[in-house]
Amino acid sequence: MQQYPFPSPDPIPLPAPVWLFKVLNVVTLALHFVALEILIGGLLIVAVLNYFGAREGASLRLNQAAHLMARRLPIVMTYVINLGVPPLLFTQVMYGQALYTSSILIGLWWFSVIVMLMIAYWLLYKVAERVEARRNAWLMALGAWLFVGFIARIYSTNFTLMLRPEDWQGLYEQSALGAVLPMNDPTTTPRWLTMLAGGFAVAGVWMIWLSTMSKASEDVGAYLNALGGKIALVAFALQLGAGYWVYLAQPDAVKERLGSQTFYLVSGYGWVALTAVLMALSALAIVKKPSPMLSWSGAAAALLAMLAMVNCRDGIRDVTLLSKGFDVWERNIVTNWSVVAIFLALFVVGLGVLGWLISVVMRSKEEGELKLNPSFATESSKEMNK
Ligand code: HEM
Repeated sequence: MQQYPFPSPDPIPLPAPVWLFKVLNVVTLALHFVALEILIGGLLIVAVLNYFGAREGASLRLNQAAHLMARRLPIVMTYVINLGVPPLLFTQVMYGQALYTSSILIGLWWFSVIVMLMIAYWLLYKVAERVEARRNAWLMALGAWLFVGFIARIYSTNFTLMLRPEDWQGLYEQSALGAVLPMNDPTTTPRWLTMLAGGFAVAGVWMIWLSTMSKASEDVGAYLNALGGKIALVAFALQLGAGYWVYLAQPDAVKERLGSQTFYLVSGYGWVALTAVLMALSALAIVKKPSPMLSWSGAAAALLAMLAMVNCRDGIRDVTLLSKGFDVWERNIVTNWSVVAIFLALFVVGLGVLGWLISVVMRSKEEGELKLNPSFATESSKEMNK
């Protein structure tokens, strides 16, 4: 097997088993992806709903649906960021030699993420404000979506560049500043498109969830449910196509190894099966009234599908790196069990606090929505009584 120039590992051994880091990485990354997909898809849906809904004479429910989503997007962004930090730490511990290198090689773009993130975040607040006042916000929403989509592109680039040590030296020769974003990897674009398509799919499931879990009026709830179902149905099919493209774009050696490992095979077929379940639930949402049962089944299936997808993605990384001489399972490990126990206890407490925060946010939203823009409420009931 050809050996590639990975930097030497840190002389300090890993303080916990690789499997533990992996479990934590997969779980937290799946949560990061759920929030991320809601943001990516939600933003563009808000833009379209507001474009049509803020016009003179347009049905009020369009902008009301946009408002229900837009006012939650800044909160979704906090989850995107905070749930991105843990997997970043776990990934760096396991794959630092590859990930540090690729991050530095596209350093200028990697740092630009912080600036773009701040602009997108600011735009999210502006969009929520303007949609609430039924003013045009679609251009701002579109701008935020472009920033977020481009950040996603930079992430896809970095997480594929870390798998290509053969390109590192050439890239450094092109720009020591890290100003060149490599475009030559056939796996980067399908990976990015899988995330973008997944954005509409998960945002559709989110709309179905909001149809019963927010204080949307009956009319707006029914609209969110049916529209969410339609968007999710199409987007899940597109995501499956993009996911298959990711598989096809892998080198033969990677495909073979993936196919011979039961865990990744089960994860791959599990992802396809769960996506089929999600498509069936989306179809139900189109024809049925909103129901908490449908809302929660969609949310649970989306989370499980995300876990399966993250496992497949993890398999592609391990198998690719293994074909280049980097075996993550061969790291030196000296487990420090007392630290691991304290960490796990704090992790569980953290999850509890997160759940509590979510419940507080949901309760405050319910009150907020009742008080919210009384003109909306009266105009909406007038429209319903027509
Ligand atoms: C709007 C902001 C963000 C967007 C659009 C975004 C997008 C993405 C995308 C598309 C991927 C998957 C790339 C691929 O595999 O092809 C990803 C992975 C990841 N993101 Fe985010 N991200 C955002 C914010 C963050 C933040 C703020 C952090 C951390 C502080 C973060 C940490 C991570 C990590 C650690 C991974 C991959 C971990 C692994 O491979 O194990 N992300 N992100």
